[in-house]
Amino acid sequence: MKVSWAQLYNDIGECEKCRLCETRTNVVVGEGDPHARLMFIGEGPGQEEDRQGRPFVGRSGELLTRMIQAIGMERTEVYICNVVKCRPPKNRNPEPDEAAACLNYLRGQVALVRPKVVVLLGKVACQYTLNEQVFITRDHGVWRERKGVWFMPTFHPSALLRDPAKKRDAWEDFKKIRDKLKELSEA
Ligand code: URA
Ligand code: SF4
Repeated sequence: MKVSWAQLYNDIGECEKCRLCETRTNVVVGEGDPHARLMFIGEGPGQEEDRQGRPFVGRSGELLTRMIQAIGMERTEVYICNVVKCRPPKNRNPEPDEAAACLNYLRGQVALVRPKVVVLLGKVACQYTLNEQVFITRDHGVWRERKGVWFMPTFHPSALLRDPAKKRDAWEDFKKIRDKLKELSEA
């Protein structure tokens, strides 16, 4: 049975399905248009996200926001969330069992939002969402269709902050995203 937003917020709010619940300040469910055509999936909350209970509000978030604006959209028009809803200590990658425990919430979010296009930010988001080993340098910008939804792996904004030379490739990916949305609205 399909979950409701209220149910989802309730379940995540009191979730203790993995050890990340022990160290979180706030859960970070996600935010944006609940019926967005475009959805972004990151890895997990960082320090600022954990503090505010909102996704992508730190340095990476500022860059993501600018990239969304660069394709003519606003944060409020897209939906933004993460694979795990609680911050991994010291921003380590989520462990497989943590991602597995949390993945049903993400499935619920995708089922409720019903996006046309899903952008996977970084290797970790790809690995758990597509259930496939992805190498961002090789596989970024390459579409994968799953049940009528278009998924694209691209760079995590924190990787772009570490290595600005990658921004050129990321911009090519974002232009493909913009074009795909246009194509799908014309179809
Ligand atoms: N990095 C992520 O993967 N997600 C966030 O929400 C913030 C930083
Ligand atoms: Fe629950 Fe996900 Fe938080 Fe783990 S990360 S406690 S599964 S909400």
